Amino acid sequence: MKNLVVLSGAGMSAESGISTFRGGGGLWDKYPVEQVATPEGYAKDPELVINFYNERRKQLLEVVPNGGHLGIADLEKDFNVTVITQNIDNLHERAGSKHVIHLHGELTKVCSSRNPNDYRYIKELSPEEYQVRLGDKAGDGSQLRPFIVWFGESVPMIETAIEYVESADIFVIIGTSMNVYPAAGLLNYAPQDTEIYLIDPNPVDIHSYRKVSVIQKGASEGVEELSALLNTD
Ligand code: OAD
Repeated sequence: MKNLVVLSGAGMSAESGISTFRGGGGLWDKYPVEQVATPEGYAKDPELVINFYNERRKQLLEVVPNGGHLGIADLEKDFNVTVITQNIDNLHERAGSKHVIHLHGELTKVCSSRNPNDYRYIKELSPEEYQVRLGDKAGDGSQLRPFIVWFGESVPMIETAIEYVESADIFVIIGTSMNVYPAAGLLNYAPQDTEIYLIDPNPVDIHSYRKVSVIQKGASEGVEELSALLNTD
């Protein structure tokens, strides 16, 4: 079976009702990114940040995977699929994708404020625990913090992601503006003969001269077209 690697971003979940970050009405218009997505913002006002992610978790309970997520999961019948996502939601998993790498963390998890990547204190929350409070403690006694990679923090999963991209026969970029590194640089690790597809309803500058087959459509329609092009079914 061929290796198919997906790199997804916020646009993947747009049709499920989760807003993207950039562009008109994006999340970063409503919430200043430095306030809710940096270690400095968290140090300054942890309660505001904790509540911001509590809201995002509440929204998880109200949304469902869209045709795009389901279509990607379906590709597992014909390909060895790895999903590398910048998204912190769990919609790829809920659609049935078995191998998902989260570059920017996971909403459903919490960790230690002292050392966010200390695996001993990373914990999966059940939906009843989705509302974290100031004062809730991780195993090391520090405040429970959202398991999210904020701006200025290292991206520990990038090395694993690079390994998968290096062995991709097919690389599919869906719903990302390719503005945030190191995620946007993953394309550079795809071997020269890897087929590259890009699904996005808007033009995207991939910062590369690689030959890319562009499917200028939303995630659901775009993944359907991709499956047809890849000759599945
Ligand atoms: P962006 O908001 O930057 O880009 C979203 C992309 O989705 C754009 O290219 C849109 O054109 C596209 N899009 C919109 N609707 C779509 C649809 N229905 N189907 C497919 N695509 C659609 O989001 P990301 O590139 O994911 O990081 O942003 C990357 C990172 O920046 C995020 O992970 C987050 C953010 O700040 C952190 O929080 C660390």
